[in-house]
Amino acid sequence: EEIEKGGYDHFMLKEIYEQPRAILDTYRGRLLADQGLIRMAGIDEHLEKFLNANRIIIVACGTSWHAGLVAEYIFEDLARIPVEVEYASEFRYRNPVITDKDVLIAISQSGETADTLAAIKMAKEKGAFVFGVCNVVGSSIARETHAGAYTHAGPEIGVASTKAFTTQITVLTLMALKLAKEKGVFSQSKFHEFLTELETIPAKVEKALESNALIEVIANVYKDSTNCLYLGRGYNFPVALEGALKLKEISYIHAEGYPAAEMKHGPIALIDEQMPVFVIATKKGHYEKVVSNIQEIKSRKGKIIAIVTEGDTQVRELADHVVEVPETLESLTPLLTTIPLQLLSYHIAVMRGCNVDQPRNLAKSVTVE
Ligand code: AGP
Repeated sequence: EEIEKGGYDHFMLKEIYEQPRAILDTYRGRLLADQGLIRMAGIDEHLEKFLNANRIIIVACGTSWHAGLVAEYIFEDLARIPVEVEYASEFRYRNPVITDKDVLIAISQSGETADTLAAIKMAKEKGAFVFGVCNVVGSSIARETHAGAYTHAGPEIGVASTKAFTTQITVLTLMALKLAKEKGVFSQSKFHEFLTELETIPAKVEKALESNALIEVIANVYKDSTNCLYLGRGYNFPVALEGALKLKEISYIHAEGYPAAEMKHGPIALIDEQMPVFVIATKKGHYEKVVSNIQEIKSRKGKIIAIVTEGDTQVRELADHVVEVPETLESLTPLLTTIPLQLLSYHIAVMRGCNVDQPRNLAKSVTVE
C-alpha cells in the first residue's frame, strides 16, 4: 500500500496531486485544438440524439451530482440545451416524466452506485437515450448505458472523491463544447478560444496546488471549528457544495454549501465571530455581487476565507485569508477553485486525526439503496 501511495501520506493527497495529469488524460485524443475539433466517439455516433433532444436530464449521487450541477451551467450557458439535474435516489422514485426525446446522462466514478444504476434502467424503459460518464472501465453503469465517455482519471482509492470530480467536469465540458459547435451556437473562433484555454488547465491546476503550504496554515486556524459555511455563485455554487461535502465527510465538521445570494434568506443568521465562511470570489462571474456578500459577512464578524483570482486586491482588503488561483474562462473556473477546497479539507482532517482515506460510515461505492 505504501508503494501505491507513491510517497504521499494518503491516497487522497496523491489523487489531489494527480489532477493535472488526470485532466490531461481526460482530454488527450479528444481535444484536437490544432484541427479545431473535439472527437468523442460516444457523441459522434449518436449526435442526432443530442441535437434533437428536448432536454438533458443528469442523474448522479454525491460528488458526481455536484459535477452534474456544474454541467447544468455549462450545457445551458454554452450549448443552450435545457438541463435538469437530479439525485438518482429521488429521481427513480418520483415517477418522473421521461420521453424518447430526452437524453439522460448518468455520472458515476465507480459505475456501481445502485440508485444511479436503477435510474438508468428506468429511463431506458421509458425510451430515453442514456449516456454514461464513468471512471471505472467495464463497470455496471458503463455496460448498462447506450453510449458513454470514460473520464480516464485512473483508480481513485480515497473515499473522498477528488480527481473524479475534476475529470467528470472536463468530460462534460468537452461534450458541451462539441454540442455548442455542432448546433452552431459557437463560432469557430469562440470554439477555438475554449479549446486552447482548456489545454492550459493542467498547468493552472499545478499552479493552484502551489498554495498547499498556505492552505495548511489556514487549516490550522480553523481545524477546531464546529460549523463552516461555503458560498459561491453561478458556476461556483456547485463548488461550494462540493467544498462543504469534502469537509463533512473526512473531518466530521458540519459544513453547508449555499449559493451566496441565498445567504440572506436564512444562513446569515448563523454568522458570528465563530463562523468560518469560505467564499469563492473569482474575477469572472458575479464578482461584484460576491464582494457585497463578503461585506455582509464581515459586518457580522464572520471569518472570511476567499478563493480569488491571481492579483485580486479588492477581496484581499476584506478577507481574513485569501488563496489565489490562476485566471481562466468563467466556465472553467470550477476546475481551479475546487483545488484549494480539497486541500483544505485534507489538512483539517489530518490535523484532527481522522482516517482520511476511509472515513467512518462511508464506502467508496454505494451499491445498496
Ligand atoms: C464523494 O466524496 C463521496 N464519497 C460520494 O458522495 C460519491 O461521490 C457518491 O457516492 C457517488 O459515487 P459514484 O460517483 O461512484 O457514483
